[in-house]
Amino acid sequence: MKVIIVKDKQAMGKRSAQLIAEDMQKRTPYVLGLATGSTPLPLYKEFIAMNKAKDLDFSSVITFNLDEYVGLPPQHDQSYRYFMNTELFDHINIQKKNTFVPDGMAASPEDFCAHYEAMIKDVGGIDYQVLGIGSNGHIAFNEPGSSLASRTRVVPLTENTRKDNSRFFKSIHEVPTRAMTMGIGTILEARKIILLACGENKAEAVARALQGPVTAMVPASALQMHPDVTFVITEDAAPQLKTPYGSYFEKQ
Ligand code: F6R
Repeated sequence: MKVIIVKDKQAMGKRSAQLIAEDMQKRTPYVLGLATGSTPLPLYKEFIAMNKAKDLDFSSVITFNLDEYVGLPPQHDQSYRYFMNTELFDHINIQKKNTFVPDGMAASPEDFCAHYEAMIKDVGGIDYQVLGIGSNGHIAFNEPGSSLASRTRVVPLTENTRKDNSRFFKSIHEVPTRAMTMGIGTILEARKIILLACGENKAEAVARALQGPVTAMVPASALQMHPDVTFVITEDAAPQLKTPYGSYFEKQ
């Protein structure tokens, strides 16, 4: 595990973009795994700036997103497809046909999940997977208790998550009750993984993920079993870490 501690969100975006951009030079086509949420936004801003400056080319990049709500169409402003289009894809030279987000409107979400796994396999797997982390240690929609070997599947949303997310909808009744998510086993098959975290509300989850026991109750702790994981975290998300941090440590 590598741990990089940076001052603030902007630095988190810059450092993570630099690491991913470096790796993107090694392979064509390159397959990126992407996340939604507020944490990766500084990374996406940086990708857009690098692309506009012609320092980073997305024309032969393929992307797979981690998750999507079941029942939301792509044009719904709370769908993860809408988020990815407006926050990243609309602003870079990626071919939209090479961007994949689970289809929230699939006739059979279960069949779609199996198809999504097959699509990832068909392109040779994910080269670099970007992750955020929930304050309870979740990754993608793998909530505590998810099997560490889980695959892409349909999951129920906990009442807590629905309540948390209801602020983005007109009422809690509009918040979907299910989502599709890559599994922990699926995520662990990526060649490289980068987990971003910022804010003091993530400090406990970061410490438990990096240095606690590997347990289904902290889904991000499964990353300890992967040979190439980097955590890029802000100072305020790091205070609960005990030194030494891991095999590699960098503080900016
Ligand atoms: C979304 C995802 C989620 C978020 C997590 C943190 O695709 O994978 O697991 O990464 O809920 O969300 P933020 O970044 O909004 O704190």
